[in-house]
Amino acid sequence: MTTRDYLKSSDFDREKTLELFELAAGVKQQVKQRHFLDLLSGCHAAMIFQKPSLRTRVTFDIGLKQLGATGIYLSPAEISLGVRESVYDVARNLERWVDLVIARVFEQAAVEELAQVGAPPVINALSDDEHPCQAMADFFTLYERGVQWNDFHFTYVGDGNNVCNSLMITGAILGLNLRIGSPARYAPSKALIEQTQALCRASGGSLLITDDPREAVRGANAVYTDVWASMGQEEEAGSRKAFFEPFQVNAELMKLAAKDAFFMHDLPAHRGEEVTDEVIDGPTSLVFDQAENRLHIQKAIILEVMDQAEAARATF
Ligand code: CP
Ligand code: NVA
Repeated sequence: MTTRDYLKSSDFDREKTLELFELAAGVKQQVKQRHFLDLLSGCHAAMIFQKPSLRTRVTFDIGLKQLGATGIYLSPAEISLGVRESVYDVARNLERWVDLVIARVFEQAAVEELAQVGAPPVINALSDDEHPCQAMADFFTLYERGVQWNDFHFTYVGDGNNVCNSLMITGAILGLNLRIGSPARYAPSKALIEQTQALCRASGGSLLITDDPREAVRGANAVYTDVWASMGQEEEAGSRKAFFEPFQVNAELMKLAAKDAFFMHDLPAHRGEEVTDEVIDGPTSLVFDQAENRLHIQKAIILEVMDQAEAARATF
């Protein structure tokens, strides 16, 4: 069955997630052979961005073109979603012209409303609560390396933010052994922890929450981190720094992880803050593979919500 919108990580169950990894692997191979599908020929997508972006904007734009569709980029100042015009009115206008809406927003409620009000499928390209496409790209990057989900210790250290939330949900759906190391006041919410625990019970995964970065990293097969202050929190950057300094991923912390543990980051990175150059540029860093895979997994997600996944599979 097709999933119409991708608004939060829990929208794809385990079966759908694995199906999309397989589809992404297929489209990735086709791109390497310079074979592009034309399944969305004549389609148009509105790309609403309330926040800046490099990876998300470029990969959605190229991905749409490779599928035969056109993306119309609407910059933060362009439509001032919810300020110049209500989310409701924006959605009612867009549905008259476009076939897909891709939105990077502050409030999760904005993507939910775009989906509820407007006819076209909506993909969450990051909100304050979630970054579902990022988590899909990250676990697809591990899938390509043949990771056995139930045997894999995946550690996230740092802010319990949007990226952390989506990694927890998709990671739990897949059945990973998750460890989250955050300063207590920046830990993931109780509701999110309970949701993750319930998903772990179904998948055979596990979850440990700690405020000790060393406990989080010990024996980990992958260590993931993100910025200490996200977009929209720039003014808090100074006050947050003191809490997060012990959580910096540096060579000393990585020594506690399993031998040859992967380092992962969604980027942009603040080098010298949450991660040192030595680690991010090290031989087991996956950061640019993760960035590359945004393109391929998002194409699989677009095909899914546009009901073209089967047609794409038929071309392999
Ligand atoms: N990782 C990520 O979403 O990067 P951008 O903010 O540059 O899109
Ligand atoms: N947590 C970061 C992720 C950026 C891709 C932010 O929201 O700014």
